[in-house]
Amino acid sequence: MSSPVVGSAFVLTVSDRSAAGEREDLSGPEAVAALSGAGFHVPEARVVPDDRDRIITELRQQVEVGTSLVVTTGGTGCAPRDVTPEATLQVITRRVDGLSEQMRRVSLEKTRFALLSRAVCGIADRTLIINLPGSPRGVVECLEAILPVLPHAINQICSTPDDLH
Ligand code: MTE
Repeated sequence: MSSPVVGSAFVLTVSDRSAAGEREDLSGPEAVAALSGAGFHVPEARVVPDDRDRIITELRQQVEVGTSLVVTTGGTGCAPRDVTPEATLQVITRRVDGLSEQMRRVSLEKTRFALLSRAVCGIADRTLIINLPGSPRGVVECLEAILPVLPHAINQICSTPDDLH
């Protein structure tokens, strides 16, 4: 018997080069594999350029349809085109800083460049949005660091006030 689905998930790769077909997107598929392995239903993944409005549109669409978890990869660094955190902050209404803090802590054990990731995590309506770095290895390392608490996070986000009594 297969285990129950934790929730629905959507993966958004943010990369000018991948969106232009100049570089194969390896990070999105890594995220899809990790999330599927953790019990999420991941029917779709998309690639968009480092364009704030495009990212916001994609995120809002997922919030609108009630996707439980949206994971972005890329665009969290300090280059002028890195705007994923700014787009995410336009969409979320509550931050979940513990998730980004833990990812940075674990990443720092692997690379000092983790200090340059401005990734944010937060909630919009019933959707949890998580920024990951753009490297495929970073995707795996960061997701491993937080996956164990995601089912509980999603349960909390979807609970009604009555559930809490
Ligand atoms: N975190 C982990 N675990 N592994 C990585 O390879 N790359 C770092 C950092 N965090 C990395 C990581 C690098 S090199 C940068 S510049 C920042 O994430 C931002 O990456 P991004 O702009 O691709 O999102």
